Amino acid sequence: MTLAATPKIELHLHLEGAAPPAFIRGLAAEKREDISGIFDERGGYAIRDFWHFLKVYEAATSVIRSPEDYRRLTLAVLEESAASGVIYCETFISPDFCGGRDLVAWRDYLAAIEDAAAEAEAKMGVTLRAIVTPIRHFGPEKAREVAICAAETAGRFVTGFGIGGDERVGEPEDYAWAFDCAREAGLGITAHAGEWRGPDHIRATLRALRPSRLGHGVRAIEDLALVDELAERGTVLEVCPGSNIALGLYSDWRHHPIGKLFDREVKVTVSTDDPPFFRTTMNREWDRLADAFDWDTGVFATLNKTALDAAFCDRDTKDMIAKKLEAAHG
Ligand code: ADE
Ligand code: ZN
Repeated sequence: MTLAATPKIELHLHLEGAAPPAFIRGLAAEKREDISGIFDERGGYAIRDFWHFLKVYEAATSVIRSPEDYRRLTLAVLEESAASGVIYCETFISPDFCGGRDLVAWRDYLAAIEDAAAEAEAKMGVTLRAIVTPIRHFGPEKAREVAICAAETAGRFVTGFGIGGDERVGEPEDYAWAFDCAREAGLGITAHAGEWRGPDHIRATLRALRPSRLGHGVRAIEDLALVDELAERGTVLEVCPGSNIALGLYSDWRHHPIGKLFDREVKVTVSTDDPPFFRTTMNREWDRLADAFDWDTGVFATLNKTALDAAFCDRDTKDMIAKKLEAAHG
């Protein structure tokens, strides 16, 4: 079976960050908004660096307003996922963007997203689960409100809690209340760390927020004692190599630390983060990794297995996905 045809599991995908540029242009036109400044001459998103990316992301998101907009977005995103052979995906969604952290509004957005996910599962065979995510640079106060929305809607579809946004803002302890609230509601815990700050910040995040997974986590490579600690603890890294390279964290695929992390037995998985912003897809990630590290199908089967073990969904869903993987990997 070719890599392109192999089923894939993706644990780290921002829903708005996966919006195809044409979809955003269409919504902007419907609403008569001019956001042409966020696109380049070829119609793709134009981003200069991570902090500019966050601004472009928020500008694109500003035209996705109603639950119906999110329903359409979810379908558009899952079409792209299915085209890369993704059969199970966890996506970050945020009450910050969906209803301004109002619980009643949040339930409406969630219902629309879940409805689209059910339609995509029936039509395209891709299963979606959600990780509720405050935006770090919106501050700890708002993160607490987001956690309450997450806790109130935890269940089969909302399975996790995370944090994205500008990693340089605040300290992990500032967000501990929100994470404790989500954990008590039974949600799986992940946190972006080790993308824009180094090993000390990863350690502080592990201590304060107690995640089983880290978004990125790749800068652990700057401290091999931490790498070994991650391997021993079994902390799973949601690695997004194409994102890291597009944002200039590493010069090219061969210099990306995922190869070394894998060799040192850290549990790594592969995701796209915000695929159209970084001109990537799951198929492209797998292809580039196969080229850069000479990874064979056995390694990709391991990545899939690690991802499924670390997924935040319930047992029935895991069993259903495991059967699909077995059929493909043998
Ligand atoms: N939000 C969307 N993409 C992100 C990333 N790569 N890091 C932090 N926050 C994000
Ligand atoms: Zn991310």
